[in-house]
Amino acid sequence: MINLGILISGRGSNMTAILSAIRRRVIKNVRPSIVISNKSNAPGLRIASEKFKIPAKVILSNGMKGWDYDQQIASVLQDYGVTPRRGLICLAGFLRIMSPEFVRAYKMRIMNIHPSLLPAFSGLHAQKQAIEYGVKVTGCTVHFVDEGLDSGPIIAQKAVPILDSDTEETLSSRILKQEHRLYTKSINLFAEGKIFFKGRSVLVRS
Ligand code: GRF
Repeated sequence: MINLGILISGRGSNMTAILSAIRRRVIKNVRPSIVISNKSNAPGLRIASEKFKIPAKVILSNGMKGWDYDQQIASVLQDYGVTPRRGLICLAGFLRIMSPEFVRAYKMRIMNIHPSLLPAFSGLHAQKQAIEYGVKVTGCTVHFVDEGLDSGPIIAQKAVPILDSDTEETLSSRILKQEHRLYTKSINLFAEGKIFFKGRSVLVRS
């Protein structure tokens, strides 16, 4: 069993997709252990605790940066069994960059989802960046977190076409549907022990 910690800052639709996939046993061998938010008003907190009965905690940064803050997250994760050996951490709309110390402690055990085909359009407002650039295809990426911004080894990607009529909202909602599937699929690959590395490439054992 892998103990899963999910970090959120907002509505938590990816978190909800993951927790419901675990409940439906679409994801196996993963125990949802703790949800942590850095914002006290994140709507995802109530969904985790009320709908899914998962412990949900707020850890405010109060201006703390880097490892000063992240070690509080690490300590709560450990309390719930999300350890570097037995844990997996999924960032699901968590609007902070993890410190190098945290990333090193949980090497290749932190995943993130990003709403573009990385390495294109990293950072905030990826869907808006793609529309403004004029690309015809964008999508979403699940990757391991390294010390850079949206730069870690890519686990899975899904392309989504951009329509002439798209606004940031319509494109974001089409990408979001794919995000939910892609995150579930990626966690399953990890939980089934099918992921291995060749250089910085993530390969999947069949
Ligand atoms: C998603 O678009 C995700 O790709 C990005 O932040 C958004 C979070 O949405 N990292 P939600 O909170 O999972 O609904």
